[in-house]
Formats: sequence, C-alpha cells, structure tokens
Amino acid sequence: MQTGLRGRDLIGDLDFSKEEVDTVLDVAWDLKMKRALGLPHANLRDKVLAMLFFFSSTRTRGSFEAGMAQLGGHAAFIESRTTQISHGDTETEMGEIFGRYFDGIAIRHVDWGIGNRYLNLVADASRVPVLNMQCEIYHPHQCLADIMTIIEKKGRNLRRKKMVVSWAYASSYLKPMSVPQSLILQMPRFGMDVVLAHPPEFQLMPDIMDQAREQARKFNTGFEVVHDMQEACEDADVIYAKSWGPLMTTHDPAEGKILQDKYKDWIANDALMAKGKDDVIYMHPLPADRDIEVTSAVLDGPHSVVFDQAENRLHAQKGVMALTMS
Ligand code: CP
Repeated sequence: MQTGLRGRDLIGDLDFSKEEVDTVLDVAWDLKMKRALGLPHANLRDKVLAMLFFFSSTRTRGSFEAGMAQLGGHAAFIESRTTQISHGDTETEMGEIFGRYFDGIAIRHVDWGIGNRYLNLVADASRVPVLNMQCEIYHPHQCLADIMTIIEKKGRNLRRKKMVVSWAYASSYLKPMSVPQSLILQMPRFGMDVVLAHPPEFQLMPDIMDQAREQARKFNTGFEVVHDMQEACEDADVIYAKSWGPLMTTHDPAEGKILQDKYKDWIANDALMAKGKDDVIYMHPLPADRDIEVTSAVLDGPHSVVFDQAENRLHAQKGVMALTMS
C-alpha cells in the first residue's frame, strides 16, 4: 500500500499511481463505513479548503463542501467572478496567497486551452495541494467515484469486464470531454477492456488517446475505438454513455450543434441496454439531458447506478482530501 500522498496535487488521472489510487479507494470505503455508522472521522480538524469555481456545479461543490465539514474542517466556496482575478490576480499570486490561507486549493476551470494550464500554474506557486474539480482535460475526482462504484457493483476483479465509454446526443451545450478522457486513462489500470464509441467528429485529444493506449498495453487490457454505439454495447458490463462537444473539430456552439444534430439517435435507451449483459450497469456523471441523451426509463431504471455514483463523489473526495491535506 502506498500512503505517501500528503501534500500531493491531483490534477491529472495518472498523477497518482495505481497503488496510490488503491489507497484512496481503501480510505474512501473506510470513511464511507464510518459515516454510515455515525463514527467520528475528523481527520482534517481545523483545515480549510478553498473551492475556486470558474464554472457551475451541483455535485462537485456539494460533495467537496460536505466532505470537508464531515472531516472536521471547512470549505470556502469562491466563485471566480466575485474575486479580483479579472482585475489582475495572476495564477502565481493565487497559488502563493491562497496557499498561505488555506490547506488545499480545489479548482474547477473548464475553459478550452486555459483551465488545465491555470491549475498547473496555481499548483506551481502553491505550498498546499491543488485538487482538480474538473478542467477541460480531466475530471479525476469523478473518475475515482466511478471506479469505486464499478467495484461496488462488479467486485474487485474487473479483468476482462467490458466497459463502454460512449458519446451520446445532447442539445443543451457542448459538454467538456474531461469525463471520457479520465475514464479511458484510469479504467485499464483496473483490468477493464475499454471500448470507446463516438461519431467521427467527436474524437478525444490525441495525446490522451496515446496515453490511454499505453495504459491498456501496460495493464494488458483491450482498448478499441468504434463509431457505432449499438455495436459497442454488445455484451457490455458497464455502459457509460454521455455527451461531449466536438471540441477537436469546432468550438463554435452553432457549428457544434449542427454536428451534434446529425447523431440524435445516439441515445441510451432500453434497446441499447438490452445489448449489454443481463447485469449491465448504466453510468452517467450527471447532469444529463433527460430523454435526449438518455431516456428516463434508463436513467431511473434498474440498470442505472447514477445515484450511487453521485454519492461516491463524497467518499472518494474525502479519501483524497484526508490523504493529501492531513
Ligand atoms: N458530475 C459533476 O461534476 O457534476 P457537477 O457539474 O454538478 O459538479
């Protein structure tokens, strides 16, 4: 067991080794059980986490804030537009100054070509851990909750289990690609055979694809890309179908919508779920475009684990915070 995580940042999914992720999960399950039993677990008494948001959130904000309180500390919710960042506070200044006030700095910044760089520059200047609450490349805390949920549903031996990470149609906005990218990086380390399905215009970042193939080689798992959602889901153990924008092709919302609208039939519905194994699970990080991206019958149906998945955000993040900020 690798426990030397005190002071470490978590920005990209591979920042923690597989053994370190295993440690996070073990701590997360321990803290989950303690909360269930009403046992005290104030591992971060008197510690304060800054939560700096450049983009809206329901689950991420709620789970980090509740998690810090349950660990005996406090979380400060800071919306970027209420700060002096637009008036000149630089990344270095934010890292230096917040690093002196707080015991950890969590940031959500999903702007294309800006968010991940922002997190890394703050981390370079900060004396305390920087935790990624989602950037345009990664959503590592979502992915930790996802693997925690998959293990709870499918057991610890996931070798040869088939995980489908599929694009799905949405009409609301061009969603970030950080969730599928985190999934294809992390899941091979747990032995799962990953099938990535998307229409041709919805590729992920080439560098992330290379890293995912490398993880699959290293952990001797399958990694396949297909352009047919139905074909991808044959015999699946896990179907993780969600939308992302055609961001390698365009950032123009109107152009993106035209591309998205070509694929309205990419929806997670009962017929799609029937292609999976009998005990297939449906996953989505939420929020979803209900009855557009996924039908209500699937989202609220017997295969869906989305509420357990959302709950595990709390426990997984408590594991990370307890290990990095103690
Ligand atoms: N899954 C997720 O990150 O949810 P929020 O955007 O509501 O935080």
